[in-house]
Amino acid sequence: MTSGTSFRRVPYHVGIVMDGNGRWAQARGMPRLLGHRGGVNNIRPVLEASVGFGIKALTIYAFSTENWARPPAEVSGLMKLLSETIRRQLADLHANGVQIRHSGRMAGIEPGLQQQIRDALELTKNNQRIILNVAFNYGGRAEIVDAVRQIIQDGLKPDDVSEDVFARYLYTGGLPDPDLIIRTGGEYRLSNFLIWQAAYAEYYATPTFWPDFDKEELRRALQDFEDRDRRFGKVKTPS
Ligand code: FPP
Repeated sequence: MTSGTSFRRVPYHVGIVMDGNGRWAQARGMPRLLGHRGGVNNIRPVLEASVGFGIKALTIYAFSTENWARPPAEVSGLMKLLSETIRRQLADLHANGVQIRHSGRMAGIEPGLQQQIRDALELTKNNQRIILNVAFNYGGRAEIVDAVRQIIQDGLKPDDVSEDVFARYLYTGGLPDPDLIIRTGGEYRLSNFLIWQAAYAEYYATPTFWPDFDKEELRRALQDFEDRDRRFGKVKTPS
């Protein structure tokens, strides 16, 4: 992986809604699951391109709490894909300095896969090159509910709860908020992705299906980001 970038300003943390795998497969007369496989195969090159551009954290939306409602074969296919991906790619990701994080509910994930996820987090926890945060069995509303439950369980008093304290209770605790959210596949919605954290993120949508989203597409998204005027609710400072 290379480093360095030609951009004046690069987002520290990018979130990606990897949409369009099913349509990518259908357009090729293939079953949807092969679209997800194409989607998995695209993660590594985009991760490498991200390192090259100077991005420090990437959160990818791999399986939502709502995705359980898909046909059982697709759900079990996605579970198997994650398991297989960890088995095949973990050593190489580790060797390349990738720190893997997980955002989502562990409960509901099959115990063997839970263990694989825990092992991946433990193995890579000190890596510094880039964070790959995998949102798996993730829902923004579920995340907020889980944070509230934990806050109550920890016995915090109302005055103890600030935005900063609350953010630390989210699955993403310790990770800076995303600066840029990219959605592939042509839809314009967040779909319950990082709904707290993305409060001031810039949003970029492309019709390109996720398996076809490449380095050039990422460059376009970063170019667009560079041109945005981020005010965070304030007025523009006169130059
Ligand atoms: C949306 O495509 C994609 C998902 C349901 C999640 C993205 C999943 C992957 C890239 C593969 C799984 C990743 C891991 C690490 C296991 P869609 O099926 O909604 O596409 P469509 O809108 O064209 O139907």
